[in-house]
Amino acid sequence: MLAFAREEKLRILVLGGGSNIVFTKNFDGLVLMLDFRGVQVDGQKVTVGAGENWHWLVRHTLQRGLFGLENLSLIPGLAGAAPIQNIGAYGQELDQVFVELEATDLSTGEEINFTSSDCCFGYRHSIFKDELKDRMAITHITLRLCSDFTPILNYQDVVNELESLGEGIPTATDISDAVIAVRKRKLPNPDKQGNVGSFFKNPEMQSQKLEKFKQRWPDVPSRQLQSGVHKIPAAWLIEKAGMKGMSIGDAAVSTLHALVIVNRGNASSGDVLGLGARVEKQVLAEFGIRLEIEPVFY
Ligand code: EPU
Repeated sequence: MLAFAREEKLRILVLGGGSNIVFTKNFDGLVLMLDFRGVQVDGQKVTVGAGENWHWLVRHTLQRGLFGLENLSLIPGLAGAAPIQNIGAYGQELDQVFVELEATDLSTGEEINFTSSDCCFGYRHSIFKDELKDRMAITHITLRLCSDFTPILNYQDVVNELESLGEGIPTATDISDAVIAVRKRKLPNPDKQGNVGSFFKNPEMQSQKLEKFKQRWPDVPSRQLQSGVHKIPAAWLIEKAGMKGMSIGDAAVSTLHALVIVNRGNASSGDVLGLGARVEKQVLAEFGIRLEIEPVFY
């Protein structure tokens, strides 16, 4: 297949679950969906085929008494795509459990292993989103999980949900169930209303700038990333800028969560891009903050 693409000089797009991609036009080239399946467990190390569903993997590892993915429950998409944007939610990011991945170089067919540092992980970022974009097909990923469970409970939404589920010390499955409930309540369901999750990244702010910002906007939520650096929710900025529910054609800023642009029916890519640009412009005008788009565009 790769040789055929090379001969015909076709561009190749490796599609995972498609849950973080926005097409702006028909793709002129070869689209590959990889169906590498199976899970291999070696102690606390888990190697999974890129074609396995991510959420299935989370629940499967929990059933096998391996912990560390519970906060990443119900993220749509396939396991092989998880490293591309370094998926993260509710206090956990993939790179915290990532060991290595195996990929095929699309131009040579060569198999290459990437360690965590090779992947250059960042916030919703890896080398596969820039330098190596469209150059590798990820076929397997390896994670190091833990047979001793340590809960990550630094998200109030999850803590509240656990409290409503009952008393006692939560198990990893309780946390997974709580995350599922929070996501179902707070995020539009991509199976029912097309969307790519967060449309923008949460902007970062240095402590000094945040202090100044808070003088004007005292109720802005923030979360410390590392010493001196904080993230503020783009959803809050978008809602405050009056854009929640705003629409162009059938593309709309979700009324459930302001960070998500949904397709109410027949939104064109122009509608989605136009709405994204309008949100960006409004937030910039209101707060002087430039939002950065998170999904991948073709
Ligand atoms: N908020 C609003 N209006 C809204 C929604 C949220 O003002 O309509 C404010 C609230 O103050 C809320 C805060 O934004 O407390 C943060 O909201 P939330 O906890 O839902 O998280 P987020 O920062 O908007 C990030 C990730 C999500 C991830 C959640 C939970 C990014 C770009 N997004 O969203 O990831 O599920 O945290 O950890 O970092 C994704 O990447 O596609 C994604 C959904």
